Amino acid sequence: MSESTELAGRRFPVPEHVAAQANVGPDAHERAAQDRLGFWAEAADRLTWAQRWDEVLDWSNPPFAKWFVGGKLNVAYNCVDRHVEAGHGEQVAYHWEGEPGDTRTLTYAQLKDEVSRAANALVELGVQAGDRVAIYLPMIPEAVISMLACARIGAVHMVVFGGFSADALASRLEDSGAVLVITSDGGYRRGAPSALKPAVDDAVSRSPGVRNVVVVKRTEQDVEWTEGRDLWWHETVDRQSAEHTPEAFDAEHPLYIMYTSGTTAKPKGILHTSGGYLTQVAYTHWATFDLKADTDVFWTAADVGWVTGHSYIVYGPLANRATSVMYEGTPETPHRGRWFELIQKYGVTILYTAPTVIRTFMKWGEDIPAGFDLSTLRLLGSVGEPINPEAWLWYQEHIGGGRCPIMDTWWQTETGAHMITPLPGVTSLKPGSAQTPFPGISAKVVDDEGNELGDDATGLLVLTEPWPSMLRTIWGDDDRYVDTYWSRFGKEVYFAGDGAKKDADGDIWLLGRVDDVMNVSGHRISTTEVESSLVAHPTVAEAAVVGASDPTTGQGIVAFVILRGNAEDSGDDLVQTLRNHVAKDIGPIAKPRQIMVVQELPKTRSGKIMRRLLRDVAENRELGDVTTLTDDSVMNLIKDKLPASA
Ligand code: WTA
Repeated sequence: MSESTELAGRRFPVPEHVAAQANVGPDAHERAAQDRLGFWAEAADRLTWAQRWDEVLDWSNPPFAKWFVGGKLNVAYNCVDRHVEAGHGEQVAYHWEGEPGDTRTLTYAQLKDEVSRAANALVELGVQAGDRVAIYLPMIPEAVISMLACARIGAVHMVVFGGFSADALASRLEDSGAVLVITSDGGYRRGAPSALKPAVDDAVSRSPGVRNVVVVKRTEQDVEWTEGRDLWWHETVDRQSAEHTPEAFDAEHPLYIMYTSGTTAKPKGILHTSGGYLTQVAYTHWATFDLKADTDVFWTAADVGWVTGHSYIVYGPLANRATSVMYEGTPETPHRGRWFELIQKYGVTILYTAPTVIRTFMKWGEDIPAGFDLSTLRLLGSVGEPINPEAWLWYQEHIGGGRCPIMDTWWQTETGAHMITPLPGVTSLKPGSAQTPFPGISAKVVDDEGNELGDDATGLLVLTEPWPSMLRTIWGDDDRYVDTYWSRFGKEVYFAGDGAKKDADGDIWLLGRVDDVMNVSGHRISTTEVESSLVAHPTVAEAAVVGASDPTTGQGIVAFVILRGNAEDSGDDLVQTLRNHVAKDIGPIAKPRQIMVVQELPKTRSGKIMRRLLRDVAENRELGDVTTLTDDSVMNLIKDKLPASA
């Protein structure tokens, strides 16, 4: 038995002290199984509604769901005002820490004032309910304030991760029809200021729909200025009144759009709405992390530019009146103990992060966390990709001090909130498995025909009932919504795009994407998107991209390119040029780890590139079945291009 299988077979029973005080006990699954909609209605009751719903779920026109039909609420009021009204205004909402070490503390009362001012500023700039507002900011408090200000006035926010390029931003501005962009001069990244405004200037010059750009001063870098269009945040927001009356919006009022990679080059604008989304992010945050609002210090170490940040830095924690840590920078700046220093400084009790970071910490060595007092930690979470048992165990021992249960949470941008996860007071843990559908969630593993599988048989993960925080559509493209998620097994079964198996205990193991989407450091990147970027370069005729397994990042991007007849293969220079081209085109996260220039690509008789074979080459595996290849000598040509170690 390999070390990995041995670890995977180990069980970690629920510690008694955890079970004794857990928010959610074993009855939750049972209660939800008996009355799923009643269960979600109780979860929705944890929010404050301006008007109660008439019907929990309208699923009369699948896959278009309506949750809490007829209900009205204001999301920002639920996240901020109601806590202040209940006497918790002095509680810290965020301990924010900049990469250079500057800090800012925001209490719920201060957050309420800031959000109200920003909401008044948006109204002054003519932003109306339903309008789209793009947010392209570093991890600074204004990112959260802007999101909540949008929610408060019913505008739809569309946050673009600050690491994305001007082109990526431009296509998102266009697709969403944004009328305003909130950005900053720059942010701090790996010890240096990194500019953001130039990318916005570039993108907005191609987006006639954008009327204004509001700029937060963060790094004091010089910025180009377009009079009449550009406005400083401090001049526009700070002078506003801190009074703003939140209006109640329909439960199905759009809250935000978040773009994510799909199997085509065009990213999909995932649309989330208000009541159901807030219900599920708040409930899961409270249940999965066993959150105690009065005593916990919660830290989701992710960027607000991703769904993890939306649901578990902003909406879930705030709806639950949590005290959170928010950190601007990377784990190694200015030193490799930075995260542990923050845990020690703020007394973090719950840490939520991605396996890729854990594997990086493993590489750096256990002496680093051992140098800090991490004794406040009581619970750990993982998200973004399967956590391999070795990393799970290391996380548990060297960060969690052997006493912290780990919640391995499976979910997606599309699902909005946790879907498959152990629960701290309920589940005896199995390293490597996300284990159990959350109460009220129905997940199955099926074969290609939709027959349910068990006993470790590998199949596809599907969700067989709608859930409150589900995506409602792909922005502007209902057909693509139906085709992508709800057509493989009929209109009432959600196809997640992940391979999975269910073991004899009924625990679910996630096995990675089954489509052409890579998972690099927990970020979804489409192979097609990188391919089309490569072929857009004048030297490239054809490109095939695969995600090859990588010990640290989960997958690494490996590209095979065929050059145009007149292009010269200048070796390393060309490869560097192409790597930089992709980084500029899509963003540094999409920069290929490796690019191989080849003469031909392996294709099936129908002309489809055989990515599986290329993955084998990229991972130096024995080649798989090549019988459908048009010409199997192609593979020899490709292998000839590999370094001698291959
Ligand atoms: C993968 C991130 C295994 C999966 C919240 C999914 C996981 C994709 C896990 C969604 C996990 C996420 N175990 N795989 N615990 N969590 N994934 O949209 O392939 O950025 O489909 O959402 O990440 O990525 P997304």
